[in-house]
Amino acid sequence: MNNIVVNLSHKSYPLYIKRGLINQIGDEIAKIYTGKKIAIITDENVNALYGKVVEDSLKNSGFNIKTVVLKPGERSKSVESLLEVYDKLLDFGITRGDIIIALGGGVIGDLTGFAASTLLRGIPFIQIPTSLLAQIDSSIGGKVAVDLPKGKNLIGSFYHPEAVFIDPNVLNTLSTKFLHDGMGEVIKYGAIKDADLFRKLENFKDDHDLLANIDEVIYTCCSIKKVVVEKDEKDTGDRMMLNFGHTIGHSIEKYFNFEKYTHGEAVSMGMYLITTKSEALGITEKNSAERIKNLLIKYELPYEVKNLDKSKILETIAFDKKNNKDNINIILLNKIGDAFIKKIKSSSMIDYI
Ligand SMILES: NC(=O)c1ccc[n+]([C@@H]2O[C@H](COP(=O)([O-])OP(=O)(O)OC[C@H]3O[C@@H](n4cnc5c(N)ncnc54)[C@H](O)[C@@H]3O)[C@@H](O)[C@H]2O)c1
Repeated sequence: MNNIVVNLSHKSYPLYIKRGLINQIGDEIAKIYTGKKIAIITDENVNALYGKVVEDSLKNSGFNIKTVVLKPGERSKSVESLLEVYDKLLDFGITRGDIIIALGGGVIGDLTGFAASTLLRGIPFIQIPTSLLAQIDSSIGGKVAVDLPKGKNLIGSFYHPEAVFIDPNVLNTLSTKFLHDGMGEVIKYGAIKDADLFRKLENFKDDHDLLANIDEVIYTCCSIKKVVVEKDEKDTGDRMMLNFGHTIGHSIEKYFNFEKYTHGEAVSMGMYLITTKSEALGITEKNSAERIKNLLIKYELPYEVKNLDKSKILETIAFDKKNNKDNINIILLNKIGDAFIKKIKSSSMIDYI
């Protein structure tokens, strides 16, 4: 088992990465939790595939289980689902001494984490991330949230899990679309922090080869995120580096009403676009944008939007909650594996899209 520990000033928690871990989850949780009650929050897809395995394993270890199953997809990251989850957890008689498990992708992780952080002023929770995006990104770092009709992640907090259990084998059932969507973020980690990882991604023959080596990829990505989060838990400094491709990506997602492109796809286009521009401005080493583009093509991710209305994109960037009125922090590459934060005047953003 590969272990990583996230060390924050107020809390530390382990990430365990091991193939087949989901089958032994009861034994693993019994090592860190002495209570009896466990609530599992999951979605219909993940429940159909792994609900029984997890429940059986927990029951065999003597736990009393209640599973709450939500519809799959971003729409479940809503206040309505949150109320449903609170209600079912209270019916189960949950207390602050019990534990909640998030079993699923980023939607379930974010929603469950937010429910756990707020119900009864905070109940401990555990992440069992099952999508690639959740295993390398959303389950680590404590950002939990639900969406509002006015935008994504508008109600949220920082609330870290007690532990994260990552079983790379569950990715074998993930659809190619969501596997590749998660690859957008994996490529990002390589581009901003790890030229070796980037090269490995270039060298994998196909998805089969990628999945055969995915535990190593997950370990590398989680190690990068751990270091960044430890330095800057609340996202005011170094953690912004993880937003490479995101400023433009978010506005592309919004521009198309969150219907045309997934998050990973939008970030992919954002990474390529900004790097093309920074390369032309002489900031980024030549050929970096081309390498990003080739990797995006390899993992069937888009790299450009045809006929993009740049003024609309600029408008959306101006409204982003992360940007203040006059300045924007953008993330640029010196070269593959080496990123930096650049504070620019909002009026200069036009040079980068
Ligand atoms: N908290 C953070 O730091 C952070 C970071 C990045 C993204 N996010 C959030 O993550 C969410 C997106 O996460 P996601 O891409 O995992 O979406 P998701 O949770 O909707 O999962 C994607 C799809 O894959 C299915 N699925 C998950 N695991 C599976 C498996 N092993 N086998 C088969 N199907 C499986 C799900 O049912 C769903 O249909 C967004 O809401 C985003 O805002 C949060």
